[in-house]
Amino acid sequence: MLKTLDLNGKRALITGAGGGIGRAIALRLAESGMKLALSGRDAGKLMRTAALTGRPLDMLVLPADLTTQKGVDDVMHILEGHFKGLDVLVNNAGMALSKPFEETPIEAYDRIMAINARTPFILCQRCLPLLRKSECPTIINIGSVVSHKGYALQSAYAASKHALLGMSKALAKEVAPEGIRVHVISPGGVFTDMVRIARPDLTEEGMIVPEEIAELAAFLIEHRHCGVIDEIQIHRTGKEPFL
Ligand SMILES: NC(=O)c1ccc[n+]([C@@H]2O[C@H](COP(=O)([O-])OP(=O)(O)OC[C@H]3O[C@@H](n4cnc5c(N)ncnc54)[C@H](OP(=O)(O)O)[C@@H]3O)[C@@H](O)[C@H]2O)c1
Repeated sequence: MLKTLDLNGKRALITGAGGGIGRAIALRLAESGMKLALSGRDAGKLMRTAALTGRPLDMLVLPADLTTQKGVDDVMHILEGHFKGLDVLVNNAGMALSKPFEETPIEAYDRIMAINARTPFILCQRCLPLLRKSECPTIINIGSVVSHKGYALQSAYAASKHALLGMSKALAKEVAPEGIRVHVISPGGVFTDMVRIARPDLTEEGMIVPEEIAELAAFLIEHRHCGVIDEIQIHRTGKEPFL
């Protein structure tokens, strides 16, 4: 029989919580009674997520550009002041880019590496001291099928998601002895704004919905006693290439 952790009152920081997968994770964890720090660039979208949880007073809305030092400092400062600790970090904020290799501007490469790989690295570093004080410390990084595969027109995105996976694997080994779990969820195409913009030819039919990713995230957080799971991949066939 699987032992399920009671998440009521536990605290999570979720990046990219203003829509798509991040919002779905926020709503699912809020349902389990967690207190959430919701970060992303757009304050209005974050406030909407907080309202949708039905418990906006338990939610911290932390708008910030997480690729900047100031953005990360502001988020961490308010988080530490209000939550006095952290149980779960979900690195979900990210961007996609679909461009031929030779036409990918280096500025665009730098931008995508910054939010998809560098920011999660920094947030893991900054959150570890808080997570160490938790009874159930968990980090979930949202990778992609592109953490494992390479598709034409996605060299910068693939580089960033491979980097995220590599960092997560090494970190998972490093902190496992302290009881800190590090997981990567690698989705195929999920029907969010990212896909609607990058692949306007696709419809929702047959695609993953954000709530499925949220369910996986909740499972990983709630089940600490069923063995170490480094990574979950969830793909649907037939609609490649994906993000
Ligand atoms: N959709 C898919 O098919 C798919 C597949 C595999 C993996 N993923 C990954 O899943 C994650 C979520 O994507 P999604 O599909 O839910 O897309 P989305 O709706 O576009 O969400 C991306 C989120 O990242 C935030 N973000 C982007 N740049 C940021 C920055 N500099 N600072 C702070 N926040 C920033 C955005 O915030 P604002 O809206 O406030 O700008 C947005 O909330 C991403 O890491 C993506 O790579 C998606």
